[in-house]
Amino acid sequence: MILQKELEKCPIGLTDEAAEEAVKALLSLLSMSYLLAVKTQNYHWNVTGAHFHPLHALFEEQYNELTPAVDEVAERVRQLGYFVPGTTQFYQHNAVTEEQNDFPDATEMLRRLLADNMAIANQLRRVVPELEKIGVDQVSCDMLSDRVAVHEKNAWMLRSHLAH
Ligand SMILES: [Fe+2]
Repeated sequence: MILQKELEKCPIGLTDEAAEEAVKALLSLLSMSYLLAVKTQNYHWNVTGAHFHPLHALFEEQYNELTPAVDEVAERVRQLGYFVPGTTQFYQHNAVTEEQNDFPDATEMLRRLLADNMAIANQLRRVVPELEKIGVDQVSCDMLSDRVAVHEKNAWMLRSHLAH
């Protein structure tokens, strides 16, 4: 990941390694959250079938939570003395999740959103203990951990709609 430093030294006094590793984790989360927000809103628009209304509403609830969350993550990157990349190319390059250019049925939409939410939760669960090991920024760690809970809750709701 190519990082753009604004300031030579971390303005809140973290070591270079601590700030850099936190920024990488935050920008990776930001990338995946942004792509997931776009996908979730797109499915809100394009969902069809007998469960149109509850799914239309569920997807709206989830993307409405993601957008301000992305903002908090981006602002933490700025507090650490780095710039926040603003291209979808960067987001695509730095997300483990993928975009799809098609219009799947409601079940496939739920499966994909479930997979993306779990991919984010799993990545964060791996990253947070690694950051804590190198004595990194506690605020970023807390922020990343809080997002695990949100994505696990999203996953539960999506999974529940898939139950027969
Ligand atoms: Fe809408």
